[in-house]
Amino acid sequence: MKKAGIIGVGEYLPKRILTNADLEKMVDTSNEWIVSRTGIKERRLAADNEATSDLAIKAAREALENAHLNPQDLDLIIVATITPDMAFPSVASIVENFLLAKKAAAFDISAACVGFVYALSIANQFIVRGTYKNALVIGAEKLSAITDWKDRNTCVLLGDGAGACVLSKVESGGIISAYLGCDGSKGELLNLPAGGSRKPASHETVDNRLHYLKMQGNELFKIAVKIMTEAARTVLRQAGLTFKDIDLIIPHQANSRIIMAVAKRLGIPEDKIYLNIEKYGNMSSASTATALVEAVKDGRVKKGDTILLDAFGAGLVWGACVIDL
Ligand code: ACO
Repeated sequence: MKKAGIIGVGEYLPKRILTNADLEKMVDTSNEWIVSRTGIKERRLAADNEATSDLAIKAAREALENAHLNPQDLDLIIVATITPDMAFPSVASIVENFLLAKKAAAFDISAACVGFVYALSIANQFIVRGTYKNALVIGAEKLSAITDWKDRNTCVLLGDGAGACVLSKVESGGIISAYLGCDGSKGELLNLPAGGSRKPASHETVDNRLHYLKMQGNELFKIAVKIMTEAARTVLRQAGLTFKDIDLIIPHQANSRIIMAVAKRLGIPEDKIYLNIEKYGNMSSASTATALVEAVKDGRVKKGDTILLDAFGAGLVWGACVIDL
């Protein structure tokens, strides 16, 4: 059976750069603390008049150009995001409208930092089953809109951006295996308490700063290392491959110490791990997406190489995917 493969990639990172030195003026932190604990040196921030869909559309245009396709060739658009422009319509609908992708079905999915891996896996099903030919998968976030800029525990970690890829049925290569999981019992470790149907926006929710992301970082750290290690092993087992078959591991970029702890447990040399957290921080669903895009653009991977995406995030959810480029 023919597989679904990546035929084009694109990204968009907002121009404004927020450095650790800038953050030192905003909260009680230091460049030394942020770099040594997280690996982050700077992150991008969208402009006030830029919403998640604006980032998504720019990344989508580059991916379509790179794939040599027109928006009218698209059958499906999936946007992975936890920071949609508004509750509805979906970011995917807004992208469909701007691109004039008139033939495409479009919807968002919410799987936090694993959103891009979840979305790839969903698009893969549609293509492999022959329902659709060309799918656009985007991970896009404006996390700065849900960041508490007074909370040093979280504000130093997050950034804005978008990454996209076009998936189509391919003659060779393609998605070999995908593995997704969830443990909802640990949802309270990372959430955005208000603004939904449980706690609609009110003066009280605003006064209590409940419209910002809340995180128990230390607890998540330990779980992330365990989950990402297990997810990588499981997806490889499913694929019938070993780590020797993988040219590059592209992990979710939450913390370089988490990534290196996973690499150590798996016995993977550091040069087989892709890192761009230094420049962008954690962009949730956009992190794995832009890391994939930049690994391709930087020439770290080329046609014929085998990559492994590995992510975890709020839910808690996790996902891993093996792809022949
Ligand atoms: N600057 C200086 N000190 C700080 C800062 C800061 N920015 N943030 C926390 N600290 C302090 C804490 O207050 C604490 O001080 P105390 O010992 O006096 O109480 C101390 O540093 C250590 O805090 P820890 O939380 O134990 O630090 P840790 O080494 O765990 O690093 C971090 C914190 C970076 C948050 C880490 O735990 C982490 O990366 N966790 C995982 C985050 C993650 O992956 N989130 C999921 C994805 S995000 C998403 O889905 C959108």
